[in-house]
Amino acid sequence: MHYHRKILSIMGSPRKEGNTDLLLSRIMEGVKKAGGYGEIIYLIEKKIKDCDGCHACWKGNDCSKNDDMNEIYQKINESDVIIFGTPVYWYGPTALIKAFLDRFVYYNCPENRRKINGKSAIIVIPFEDDDISTVAPLVEMFEKSLKYLEIPLIEKLIVSGVSKKGDVLKFEGIMKKALIIGDKIVR
Ligand SMILES: Cc1cc2nc3c(=O)[nH]c(=O)nc-3n(C[C@H](O)[C@H](O)[C@H](O)COP(=O)(O)O)c2cc1C
Repeated sequence: MHYHRKILSIMGSPRKEGNTDLLLSRIMEGVKKAGGYGEIIYLIEKKIKDCDGCHACWKGNDCSKNDDMNEIYQKINESDVIIFGTPVYWYGPTALIKAFLDRFVYYNCPENRRKINGKSAIIVIPFEDDDISTVAPLVEMFEKSLKYLEIPLIEKLIVSGVSKKGDVLKFEGIMKKALIIGDKIVR
């Protein structure tokens, strides 16, 4: 049994207080109730430049992009679990989450890889369709990328049929599941 205490949630929807935000907030509520801690990072508030593959980070240097990711790398390094929250946007992630994930090239060299060794990930994905196949390409993107990074994907919270802000609150069972996930990852 693993005990995770520090949880970093990445809110990848540009819409605050929407379904992704509500789900992440509820998970964090569960985390805090169970004695864990952490925070939600709102990517919409951050400046995250595109990774252009300069690979300065593979030569023992800091990432060459001087932006908010410098601080977020530190937070990732200090966390036990990273929660990626994004709605489905055109069968994929939001541009915010994609730019964020692209910056994980930083962790794709032996020296930096050890900074994420032992961490786990969770994905949280709301979307509008009732057709579950809509979310498949995005789930696969995360599964393959996280596998490549050797970060086990320990939980998926996938919620179909939500469109407007707050729609997810109608699904009491889902909100309860979010709370339980938060509780479970810390205990
Ligand atoms: C640009 C954009 C693209 C979207 N593409 C899809 C899609 O391909 N399939 C789908 O089911 N929902 C799609 N949606 C709907 C969102 O996934 C849905 O409204 C979700 O609840 C938004 O999450 P949020 O409340 O956290 O912002 C899209 C919404 C936007 C704004």
